[in-house]
Amino acid sequence: MVVLVTGGAGFIGSNFLLRSVVARPDLTFVNVDALTYAGNPYSLEAIAEAPNYRFEHVDITDRAAVDQVFDKHDPTVVVHLAAESHVDRSIASPDAFIRTNINGTFHLLEAFRGHSAGKEGARFHHVSTDEVYGSLGPTGLFREDTPYDPSSPYSASKAASDHLVRAHARTFGVPVTITNCSNNYGARQFPEKLIPLMVLKALAEEPLPVYGTGENVRDWLHVDDHCEAIWAVLDRGKVGETYNVGGRCELTNLDVVHQICDVVAAETQRDSDALRKLITFVRDRPGHDLRYAIDASKIERECGWTPSVSFTEGLRQTVRWYLENPEWIARVRSGEYRRWLAEHYDGRHSA
Ligand SMILES: NC(=O)c1ccc[n+]([C@@H]2O[C@H](COP(=O)([O-])OP(=O)(O)OC[C@H]3O[C@@H](n4cnc5c(N)ncnc54)[C@H](O)[C@@H]3O)[C@@H](O)[C@H]2O)c1
Repeated sequence: MVVLVTGGAGFIGSNFLLRSVVARPDLTFVNVDALTYAGNPYSLEAIAEAPNYRFEHVDITDRAAVDQVFDKHDPTVVVHLAAESHVDRSIASPDAFIRTNINGTFHLLEAFRGHSAGKEGARFHHVSTDEVYGSLGPTGLFREDTPYDPSSPYSASKAASDHLVRAHARTFGVPVTITNCSNNYGARQFPEKLIPLMVLKALAEEPLPVYGTGENVRDWLHVDDHCEAIWAVLDRGKVGETYNVGGRCELTNLDVVHQICDVVAAETQRDSDALRKLITFVRDRPGHDLRYAIDASKIERECGWTPSVSFTEGLRQTVRWYLENPEWIARVRSGEYRRWLAEHYDGRHSA
């Protein structure tokens, strides 16, 4: 059986493929990725020559190219991870988010409907985010029936893609499942996101830019636990259903940065207080949601999934991974990456 994974060169996709290609040799995995700034084929070197792995350099905004990939590989299952995924980029430049997250998802759904939907075991699994639900106050949890209320162009584009997936299920009978997951962290995450950004800045002893007062709360889940949640839904989830995925690990951004300082200090024999002094509070992100928190009881109950990596252990593993993989870091630190960071953070320091 062929499993077509979109966005397999990105953070979650590469971790998903590295685990799955080895653990499921009976399945053939086709990675469809446009290799945007966030796609890093170097992450996949360990499986590049595996007999059950193929790579297709295809942009999902190109409808004809998507159809050709379906004709060529005849997939039964799609795991759709390809997306523009960074909220700050969606504020600076939303167009690509509309094209990839909405139009790209639509092209995949149409190709799947035409080629795969009638096959035995067919499934279109859409990977989405808890950000579609908007912001919580100090209490409460996002449930699968929480109304959508996205705040950023990123979350609005993901919300639109979720609606398209459900519409294809209801209107055309396409067998779909959706997971809405909280913030992931772990190895191979592009260093524009909070945890790798802070780890690399702490290692370089550079200022650690925290938005606003650092009080925004996120739920954190190790990427390996997210990958297992996707398999739990593919193996045991009910067609047509949505499952929220979270780590029962709510932390303020400032807590996260403090813990990063502690782990980096412990792993590199530095002084944690000196690293904490590098924290600088910068002008807040517009429309910054205060708090996300997930009720994951449905996936736990129906699919037998629970997170297994504690934040303390996961963060230690993540810091070690960045310490042990300087070549990976050097490769993603391209001119484009440096331009983005300079453009985005320079001049925003309030202190
Ligand atoms: N990272 C998180 O914390 C998180 C949490 C919940 C949900 N998600 C969702 O999981 C998915 C993967 O997230 P990620 O963090 O791995 O993202 P990422 O930005 O690290 O990777 C995205 C991948 O998609 C590819 N891609 C982008 N546009 C494409 C296009 N037009 N055609 C083909 N490929 C394209 C990129 O090259 C890259 O390999 C996304 O749908 C995201 O919304 C992420």
